[in-house]
Amino acid sequence: MKISPNQLVIIKPDDWHLHVRDKEIMKAVLPESYRWASRAIIMPNLVPPITTGEDARLYANRIKACIDKDINFEPLLTLYLTEETEADDVVSAYRKKIIKAVKLYPAGATTNSSNGVRNINGVYPVLGAMSEQGIPLLIHGEVTDPQIDIFDREAVFIEKILAPLRNEFPDLKIVMEHITTEQAVSYVLNEEKNLAATITPHHLVVNRNVMLSGGIKPHYYCLPVLKKEPHRLALIRAATKGDKRFFLGTDSAPHLDSSKIHDCGCAGVFNASFAIEILAQLFDNEHELKNLESFVSLSGAEFYGLPHNRENIILSKSDKKLEIPKKLQTSEGDITLFDPLMSIYWRIKN
Ligand code: DOR
Ligand code: ZN
Repeated sequence: MKISPNQLVIIKPDDWHLHVRDKEIMKAVLPESYRWASRAIIMPNLVPPITTGEDARLYANRIKACIDKDINFEPLLTLYLTEETEADDVVSAYRKKIIKAVKLYPAGATTNSSNGVRNINGVYPVLGAMSEQGIPLLIHGEVTDPQIDIFDREAVFIEKILAPLRNEFPDLKIVMEHITTEQAVSYVLNEEKNLAATITPHHLVVNRNVMLSGGIKPHYYCLPVLKKEPHRLALIRAATKGDKRFFLGTDSAPHLDSSKIHDCGCAGVFNASFAIEILAQLFDNEHELKNLESFVSLSGAEFYGLPHNRENIILSKSDKKLEIPKKLQTSEGDITLFDPLMSIYWRIKN
């Protein structure tokens, strides 16, 4: 890394949590990620979900077919865990390098999660096989019990599901995806190995007031839902100090505006386009630019046991504010870009 007041050279980043969807939407959103990322962990919550090694192989081919040969971008596929998932299929897909990880969605926790896991004990045999093979489990960590307040669902998940699961499988490599609370930060900080967490740009730069005060703003609605300010501050401390257990997963989750602005609007923030510029500004504001590379380019690869990328990117700071376009146009309709509501002076130099 080379760092000077107005320029930063860092190893090219990766995105350890990304939704690229399929078909026309995929064609439109992929370039927003491969502009700055070398690799991305691709979420499997399509309709129908990517539940088998064969589904993942075909999905990887569809993604690669959208990317020109001269572009260096590697999609890292995941399987959507269900109570019907067969351990042999997971292990074989991992050994054949078709998948990098398995995603656990509690049934009903979020977008396209209805085929997820209802009874966690039902998937323990698969988790046992993953633990033996070193296959990472990526967790959407929220309980779905309607009795539990939506703002408490992550903390309750840690206590009721994650802690017992980790007791049972201490060697299983786990990533708590898109953490949003100080409880999740503390939980990760208490563990020395086999546990890490991704953090999104949006949970780092906005809190729930932005979504709910002065009018309801559906483009800030995501799951886990934005939390109050002390949680955001805990996430900033976790992300910006160079701790290897926390790394970037944008959770960029595009939905057409017609699905967001709706009687029952979809959860998801589309932030892939300017994720790095937003994070550079955040780290700069925190006087922690020296730790940006660790968060966006190094720690995730290290957790997954992958080499660092060979290419670099150059970030430069100018006096002119970055203008973030409002919409990405697709042949299916518009998708609204995440507005970080802060002044951004950093840009990626081509
Ligand atoms: O806000 C979200 N959107 N959270 C998720 O967990 C899923 C995602 C999506 O797929 O739209
Ligand atoms: Zn996600």
